[in-house]
Amino acid sequence: MSKFYITTPIYYVNARPHIGHAYTTIACDTVARRQRLLGADTFFLTGTDEHGQKIERAAQAAGKTPQQYADEISAQFRALWQRMGISNDDYIRTTEERHTKRVQELFRRIRDNGYIYKGTYTGQYCVSDELYVDGAQPGDPCPTCGRITETVHEENYFFRFSAFQDKLLELYANPDFVRPETRRNEVIAFVRSGLRDLSISRSTFSWGIPVPDDPKHVIYVWFDALANYITAIGYGSSHPGAQEAFKKYWPADVHMIGKEIVRFHCVYWPAFLLAAGLELPKAIVAHGWLLFEESKMSKSRGNVVRTETILDVLGADALRYFLLREVVFGQDGSFSFDALVQRYNSDLANGLGNLASRTLTMINRYFKGEVPYPSHAASKTAADDAVAETARKTIREFGTLFDQFQFSRALETAWGLVAAVDKYIVENEPWALGERQDEDSRSRLATVLYTAAEALRIVTALAHPVIPDATARIWTQMGLGDIKKLAIKELSWGQLQLGTKLGEVQPVFPRADKSAIERMQQMEDQQRGPAADEVKDAVPPTSPATSPAKAQPGTNAGAASPANEGKITIEDFAKVDLRVGRVKVAERVPKSDKLLRLEIDIGTEVRQVLAGIAEAYAPETLVGRKVVIVANLAPRKMRGLESNGMIVAASLEGGQPVLASFLEDVPVGARLK
Ligand code: MSP
Repeated sequence: MSKFYITTPIYYVNARPHIGHAYTTIACDTVARRQRLLGADTFFLTGTDEHGQKIERAAQAAGKTPQQYADEISAQFRALWQRMGISNDDYIRTTEERHTKRVQELFRRIRDNGYIYKGTYTGQYCVSDELYVDGAQPGDPCPTCGRITETVHEENYFFRFSAFQDKLLELYANPDFVRPETRRNEVIAFVRSGLRDLSISRSTFSWGIPVPDDPKHVIYVWFDALANYITAIGYGSSHPGAQEAFKKYWPADVHMIGKEIVRFHCVYWPAFLLAAGLELPKAIVAHGWLLFEESKMSKSRGNVVRTETILDVLGADALRYFLLREVVFGQDGSFSFDALVQRYNSDLANGLGNLASRTLTMINRYFKGEVPYPSHAASKTAADDAVAETARKTIREFGTLFDQFQFSRALETAWGLVAAVDKYIVENEPWALGERQDEDSRSRLATVLYTAAEALRIVTALAHPVIPDATARIWTQMGLGDIKKLAIKELSWGQLQLGTKLGEVQPVFPRADKSAIERMQQMEDQQRGPAADEVKDAVPPTSPATSPAKAQPGTNAGAASPANEGKITIEDFAKVDLRVGRVKVAERVPKSDKLLRLEIDIGTEVRQVLAGIAEAYAPETLVGRKVVIVANLAPRKMRGLESNGMIVAASLEGGQPVLASFLEDVPVGARLK
């Protein structure tokens, strides 16, 4: 029996899961499910990445310990995958002991092999990407995310990256190692430009795995995180069962990732493995980004769509189908509720769902719920053979495209068969044949319904890894039992048995009307903040959103007493995250007299903020200026643009707003409290 090992990236616990994360997980889940149907001993791994400065800071901002914070968010990811029926075989957390010990083992092995030495690092670092930015100067932005880098000067352990340049380039000669081609070229160019030794420890904070024998240092979070792919399956364990699992599953068949982490997976990871004398993964496959309103869906942009909203309204299959059908794998793709509902209605409700219900209902009505078979050769026509031929071609093409990760084309092919059968049904009018009692009509009707049902069975089998729930239900309605037992390698035309007794026929994809879009939008707006979409123009810089009068009376005994009426407690105030930011970009918002669009660096990230100060400040006078921003205000939309925070100003009766500022110099990112 062949084996198949596939992984998702492990997700950072600084943000709640959104559909960008779900996208990778769904794609891997789909591949894992198909491999199981193909008979491979499949292992599918996902999990969470919980160490490093980014998580430490996020926990601090949330007033929690890093471990508490990681526990909460990791549990949210896990619960979401469970709710979605994701079929992962394990869930690794980098704070688990099984991981930390084995990472130290890997570090030790590479050190013993002579590829780690001690030195001093001075340079720029991006906390958001946990990336050392070679060649950058203080104040320079991160080339990946555009946030301002921080200067790091500390004693570190270094990895002898330079020793692996040629070996890495040899690896990329294999066109399957990094996919797609654009990413492979990017990686080759990066490695050809020369590799500098890489700092693989940090010593100025402590949220990480201690370096063996030198616990003042913690292991660089990417070294720690990448190692999950081997620690989860037993690398570095002394337990015989774990060692066996590692032997069986490593090397991974596919590491699936988003395009922004290609360098870590295609350059750093193979170099670490080579240094440890371990085998390399067979393929690293990068997909593009899900965009929402034309920018990458991410927590810091505040434009994320929660997966739960879609699950509540349309279900997991709808999201799975949409993402894999609509987005060309490897390229960026846009997400919108309109497109989701349109695709759901056209391909699932009116497409597969309708084919299933009309075919099975007619078998119930005309053949008492048993799959019929033509009784004599005269009942066959060329149209029947054409459907059979299309089905055979679909099985072949679907497999090839799917195994090349061309999910959208594979699904397009399968739905080509749905369209062909729909047309066939319309042209052959089984309902008209069903009204006649003569033997020829009965026989012809049997052929038409058998052909439709057999094509339905084939599409259902092919689509199962993508829409597991609905296809399992169609399978049972067809009387075929448990779809998981299907051996897809043997799938071929004509296997549907005469006399198969149908189960109870029920619609699998009820049509969604316009209210589905509205409901999903409303659910998201509620999450993003009150009346987010109603704000059409400038909000005064001191908007009521931060007004103390909003404190809930009665929630705190002290605050509710008459003497304290209208006052807030220190805990209430602490909820407002006020920070020093620096304006990087300022420009007018088209067609608005009051609004400016600002990009503000707040130390950990650069935020887009819309401020109603255009009448008081010319944009060019603001660039470089330090301002105070409310950093944890729910995002809101104005003039179609997302505002992620609010700058603070004195609001003068009848006069212009005046921005809050400082007499002394204060660092960007400092908190006001
Ligand atoms: N923790 C690192 C990965 C370590 S792997 C050893 C990390 N985590 S992350 O939480 O930022 O998640 C990254 C992955 O989530 C991306 O590589 C991608 O697979 C997925 N996505 C997150 N946002 C996304 C979009 N907007 N669109 C598509 N996928 C996205 O990086």
